[in-house]
Amino acid sequence: MSPRTERDFAEPGREPSRRRFMIAGEHVILRAFERDDAERCYRWINDPNIIRTLKTRYPIAFQNESEWLDRAMRASHDERHFAIERRDDRTHIGNASIHDIDWVSQTAWFGLFIGEPSAWNRGFGGDSIRTLARFAFDEMNLGKLRINVFDYNDRAKHVLEALGFVQEGCLRRDFYREGSYHDIVILSKFRDAAPRQGES
Ligand SMILES: CC(C)(COP(=O)(O)OP(=O)(O)OC[C@H]1O[C@@H](n2cnc3c(N)ncnc32)[C@H](O)[C@@H]1OP(=O)(O)O)[C@@H](O)C(=O)NCCC(=O)NCCS
Repeated sequence: MSPRTERDFAEPGREPSRRRFMIAGEHVILRAFERDDAERCYRWINDPNIIRTLKTRYPIAFQNESEWLDRAMRASHDERHFAIERRDDRTHIGNASIHDIDWVSQTAWFGLFIGEPSAWNRGFGGDSIRTLARFAFDEMNLGKLRINVFDYNDRAKHVLEALGFVQEGCLRRDFYREGSYHDIVILSKFRDAAPRQGES
């Protein structure tokens, strides 16, 4: 018998978009990983479109990705991992992580990707970041979140800045890819940062 998931226990007859979820944004929910997410994770983590925005360099075997997923499914002291699902049709479209949590300083790094390129530019990424940050600040009691972004990743920088993340530092010539060195910018947001106009 395949393992049962939250969907098996959902109230019958209720539209997916109207159900209540623990971590819900306007367009996405963040849920725990399940074993049957492995094939999508494996496909995304070997997709050059995704990989060029992440530090991963080498092809990842299905076995390795499954082992990563097994670890991600267990709560650990200094990291938390989430599957990103569309609220409307409950499809799994990406992954998000909060990691290197320092509970004393109340800081953490985070990262995410929308793995299905067909889901890019439709508001899911921005809503995922907004939802993840709200959860980190309001439920995990973190005070500051930060993310590393390659200087050439204009889309990510645009989305993060629109959500109130500010460039805090730059690691110059820190990453070698496609035959040249690239800067890595650090964007961060404090829980108590004043919201910018139009930002919730
Ligand atoms: C970054 C990412 C999460 C954004 O998700 P998304 O669903 O495409 O984002 P949204 O639809 O919410 O917003 C896209 C915005 O970027 C803008 N945009 C798109 N391409 C752009 C580009 N090349 N340069 C600048 N802005 C761009 C869009 O116009 C839109 O802005 P608007 O809302 O002001 O109109 C997604 O593209 C992704 O997963 N990328 C790969 C992983 C990654 O980069 N992760 C972050 C670093 S770890």
